[in-house]
Amino acid sequence: LPVRVMSQMGIKTLILTNASGGINENYRPGELVYIADHLNLTGNNPLIGPNDDRLGERFPDMTETYNKKLINLFLEAANELGIELKPGIYAGVVGPSYETPAEIQMLKTLGADLVGMSTVPEAIAAHHAGLNVSAISCVTNMAAGISKEKLNHEDVKLVADQAKDKFSNLLFKTIEKMR
Ligand code: HPA
Repeated sequence: LPVRVMSQMGIKTLILTNASGGINENYRPGELVYIADHLNLTGNNPLIGPNDDRLGERFPDMTETYNKKLINLFLEAANELGIELKPGIYAGVVGPSYETPAEIQMLKTLGADLVGMSTVPEAIAAHHAGLNVSAISCVTNMAAGISKEKLNHEDVKLVADQAKDKFSNLLFKTIEKMR
């Protein structure tokens, strides 16, 4: 609903942000990753039900859900700020429990670099509505079983808090480039 309300109000671009668990062992907690594509493993889809043609078409193509021009602006901004910004495939799951190590191994086999409990429904609804979508993820922890540490929500919030200046600098610089 918020995505559709913003779309009807006339926005053209939606930047989504989230916290995720890192599956790709090249990531480190606190790192920022741009979502290059996603795996919708939520078992749900915001477009289920009769299509409202005023919002978008029935069977939207999802080949480029995450807008390449926006990704390039993020990469330019990251480069200017000296921030490393790696690509990642984001597996969207429902949660709210964190994953088991076996589930993380399954997601890795499926090609996921990141896992999280948000973003995918918003990205689908926004792309359906014709918005230019981009999504940046803060890897707040290594996913279950990737490191020996157990997961805990306080650590996730702490790492997100530590990354907030870097994250907001990247957002502001990229938004300047969109003008
Ligand atoms: N799994 C799912 N969602 C998350 C995680 C995780 O490890 N970290 C932050 N959000």
